[in-house]
Amino acid sequence: MINALKGMKDLTDQSAKYYKKIIEVCEDVAHNYGFEFINTPHLEQSILFKRSVGESSDIVGKEMYEFTDKGGNEVCMRPEGTAGAVRAYIEKKFDKNTNAKRWFYHGSMFRYERPQKGRLREFHQFGVESFGISSVYEDASIILMLAEIFSRLDIKFKLIINSLGCSKCMPPYREKLICYLDNQEGFCEDCKRRKSLNPIRVLDCKNEQCQNLLSQAPLLEQNLCQCCKDDFTFLQNILKENEIDFTLDSKLVRGLDYYSKTAFEFISDEIGAQSAIAGGGRYDRLIEYLGGKSGFGIGFAMGIERIMAILEQKDENLQREGIYLCSLDEVYISKIFKIATKLRKNHKVLLSYEAKKLAKHLENADKTGVKIFLCMGENEFKNESLFYKNLENKDEKTIKILDLEQFL
Ligand code: HAM
Repeated sequence: MINALKGMKDLTDQSAKYYKKIIEVCEDVAHNYGFEFINTPHLEQSILFKRSVGESSDIVGKEMYEFTDKGGNEVCMRPEGTAGAVRAYIEKKFDKNTNAKRWFYHGSMFRYERPQKGRLREFHQFGVESFGISSVYEDASIILMLAEIFSRLDIKFKLIINSLGCSKCMPPYREKLICYLDNQEGFCEDCKRRKSLNPIRVLDCKNEQCQNLLSQAPLLEQNLCQCCKDDFTFLQNILKENEIDFTLDSKLVRGLDYYSKTAFEFISDEIGAQSAIAGGGRYDRLIEYLGGKSGFGIGFAMGIERIMAILEQKDENLQREGIYLCSLDEVYISKIFKIATKLRKNHKVLLSYEAKKLAKHLENADKTGVKIFLCMGENEFKNESLFYKNLENKDEKTIKILDLEQFL
């Protein structure tokens, strides 16, 4: 018996249906906001993530699926989607013209984490990236888009926002923070490592002792430059005007190093410890940092398995769809086979090749999640008709085959 690797799961049956439903909702909302589908490789050069996600992050520090390929290249299974999208944006020279690009993607990401509920080693994200737009309205749009996705999926969330400052106000703040950290003893090993690589990552350490040591630390919100302050206030006003509730958290720095200015996280209290269901922010320096022409970027990614867990928990019924077509006697199968071929031009049809009793067929149809049950028995065969049952409202009748398409 060969099992799937630890922390990696097959998507089948119900979970595959939930996955599809979530993606459909996300794609529809992204489309309405003017985003277009892209796909980037699952395997990239390791340096891409080291340079973007950053050496101080847990992702690069501990969790990359990294190896040397047969050609001697240092490669890595993508742990997230932003770096690949930025690489593609630069490689296709979109950074050189002024056109804005709005992209969305979904697919597997890989992080060698300790698996637990809501935390996998291969998981799926739906993400969006918007390039070339500096307006704060774009930050608000990105957040509203996520709120719309969650509202359509009927998922309650808490939104936390912060501003991480820009290249003007972040370096002096970092210096202040380093001074403060240098005078404190007792930080965890992770924080000691972060302190030298990216000290602001110390702020969101989950360790209680580290948080106690940070109680008097200088706060980011009090050290923003006027421009970052104004933009952040403006963002908050747009969110208020659009009736999106949020909480400010000046210790929200996110686990990836590329952010500047707006950073946000969507939290759910319905799925236990791994409560972040989506996160994102601005990364205006990243394009230049990866070798492109300086420009603007902002995006988010949402953890699909965590959304699936919420929907499953609520036992959300997926909508019934399609037709189950069957017969009570084998001699009618060639006839219903032809009917199925015609119906399939417009409908999803599950055709049973086996003759069974009506009750058994109904039981099978129910399990497949179809909405409509159609069956041919002796009487129906003689009358050129089919027995019809709507499995949602339990309505039953006999329908002439000639009238079928119009009726459906
Ligand atoms: P992230 O916060 O690392 O951001 O991941 C986004 C979401 O992916 C998380 O909020 C969570 O729902 C889900 N997730 C992360 N790790 C796991 C895991 N091991 N198992 C299951 N779900 C997980 C990013 O990835 C950024 N690229 C987001 C972004 C896009 N920022 C700007 N553009």
